[in-house]
Amino acid sequence: MAEPSLYDAIGGAPTISALVDRFYTNMELWPEARAIRAMHGDDLAGVAHGLKAYLSEWLGGPALFSPVKGHPRMKMRHMPFPIASAERDAWLACMKEALDTVVTNRAARIQIYASMEKLADWMRNRPDPV
Ligand code: HEM
Repeated sequence: MAEPSLYDAIGGAPTISALVDRFYTNMELWPEARAIRAMHGDDLAGVAHGLKAYLSEWLGGPALFSPVKGHPRMKMRHMPFPIASAERDAWLACMKEALDTVVTNRAARIQIYASMEKLADWMRNRPDPV
């Protein structure tokens, strides 16, 4: 039998929705996330919707992102925003707390975070300040 997708393993759309909402709440509230929060528009609803769609697809659930927005090309989409190690780390910190709080399946959580670490690291597009 095929392995269940990570999407199914974590509880599908309701879990992704709660995860993304918690992630952006962290970004909104945490002083260490102030710089990355400032890169976003005032209203986070649109980007939250986009991240939910992306994660649904990325975790093996319904493809909600590409049919609407085209090929994800995440690195290219992030080029306008200066992302160095500090921005990567702030993003990951907001996501780690959200994962730890929302995703109860420990094995899936660990796997998702490990993949996100790689993705966020690859998203860096500026050298670190010296
Ligand atoms: C590494 C640090 C990161 C920073 C600083 C960052 C920052 C941003 C910013 C500023 C936006 C645009 C927001 C707006 O239009 O108001 C954005 C959009 C987005 N980001 Fe990130 N991001 C990071 C990593 C990631 C990662 C790792 C993922 C995927 C797991 C991701 C997924 C997305 C998605 C799906 C969108 C929406 C794209 C769209 O709807 O067109 N980001 N990000």
